[in-house]
Amino acid sequence: MVIVPIEAAKLFYIFFEWIEFLVRWLHVIAGIAWIGSSFYFIALDLSLQNKKDMPKQAHGEAWQVHGGGFYQIIKYLVAPEKMPSQLTWFKWEAYGTWISGFLLLILVYYLSADLYMIEIEKFDLTKFEAISISLIGIILGWVLYNFICKKTVNKNNNVLAIFILFIFTIFSWLYFQVFSYRGAYMQIGSMLGTIMVANVLMIIIPGQKKVVKSLLENKKPDAIHGITAKQRSLHNNYLTLPVIFIMISNHYPTIYATEYSWIIISLIIIVGALIRQFFNIKHSGKKPPYLIWIPITIIVLFSVYLSDIGKPNLSSAKKNAELIIQKIPKTLVVASEEIIISKCSMCHAKEPLWENMKHSPKQINLENIKDIVQNIDSIYSQAVMSYAMPPGNITFLENSERKTLYDLYNFLKRL
Ligand code: HEC
Repeated sequence: MVIVPIEAAKLFYIFFEWIEFLVRWLHVIAGIAWIGSSFYFIALDLSLQNKKDMPKQAHGEAWQVHGGGFYQIIKYLVAPEKMPSQLTWFKWEAYGTWISGFLLLILVYYLSADLYMIEIEKFDLTKFEAISISLIGIILGWVLYNFICKKTVNKNNNVLAIFILFIFTIFSWLYFQVFSYRGAYMQIGSMLGTIMVANVLMIIIPGQKKVVKSLLENKKPDAIHGITAKQRSLHNNYLTLPVIFIMISNHYPTIYATEYSWIIISLIIIVGALIRQFFNIKHSGKKPPYLIWIPITIIVLFSVYLSDIGKPNLSSAKKNAELIIQKIPKTLVVASEEIIISKCSMCHAKEPLWENMKHSPKQINLENIKDIVQNIDSIYSQAVMSYAMPPGNITFLENSERKTLYDLYNFLKRL
């Protein structure tokens, strides 16, 4: 075994955390910019009104007020008669989101595929196999979706929606059979996110480029580009909420890591679409369908129920931790237990003593050495490599005590 010098290992840990965090930062910002502009344009589109004195080729007009000024916006369908002298494109929001998202997928999931993607009890994959299966799915998802959309453009959108939902339920089930819970969840999020970005990159923007080209050549642009772009941007609109749900769910184990999590994905796709439907109708100036919140609530409650019945069955608990504990030096056991009992257990206990705290935060119990061993990785990131815990150092955890927890961590890692 190669033992990396401790100082170098610490530096690398911090460096790597920073890189991952900076990419995540970019991803969230690009995502906000993309979704923001997408919500804005959908709402704008729905608020357009047909007025008499509009220019030729104009489809509708809207007035808006923002930041101290009034805006008069006119939409041309498919395009104005002549190419305007200045034109703003909206594409880097989408591309930036995908590029940073894919980087994150590599940094968090592919590099630690053994931790976050592979579950030996389900399938004993190598890292390479797991990454390949993930990449194939991301490509296949888009190819299938694109094929179906091309076959059904101009046809009934509801049938298409149900079909896409059906296919993704199957994908979701399949990936839950081969990947770990967390890996499977992120896989479906990546597949849906890729479809959204590919819609922009492969369909919407190329269509608009062709329209621009026709205008420059003084030809009449083909209306089909407008129609396909509309179909795809409508899909993106409905997929936005479910994709964000999946992306942030990995902080909530009861959502992604229970037996029926694969069904929850499909249910959330429905919930996300229904919520968008509510706002789309509201933004078009019609009376919003308030009753739609009834099925939304029922489906969410049903998902909560699925989380509950899908959680692990504790009666078959293993005794692994006990074997490890026997190997730890007695003094280290006593010192670590003393620290967590005096500095953590008032909150992290089955029955916390902290005022108004009903359950141990994040379901992390820290009451004895067994609990510590089970949670050593989180303790390391929360209380050794950072000051995140105790919150506001409310129980005055000393640096020397952090060092003891660090010694225990090192000991366990070298077992
Ligand atoms: C005053 C109450 C309190 C004390 C004392 C406390 N914690 Fe926490 N801990 C919390 C809360 C609240 C959260 C949930 C934070 C959140 O929601 O992100 C938490 C979360 C955690 C988590 C999970 C973090 C995550 O997001 O995965 C770990 C691990 C943890 N604490 C370890 C410790 C350790 C180790 C100590 C003692 C050195 C400690 N805590 C002391 C309140 C406390």
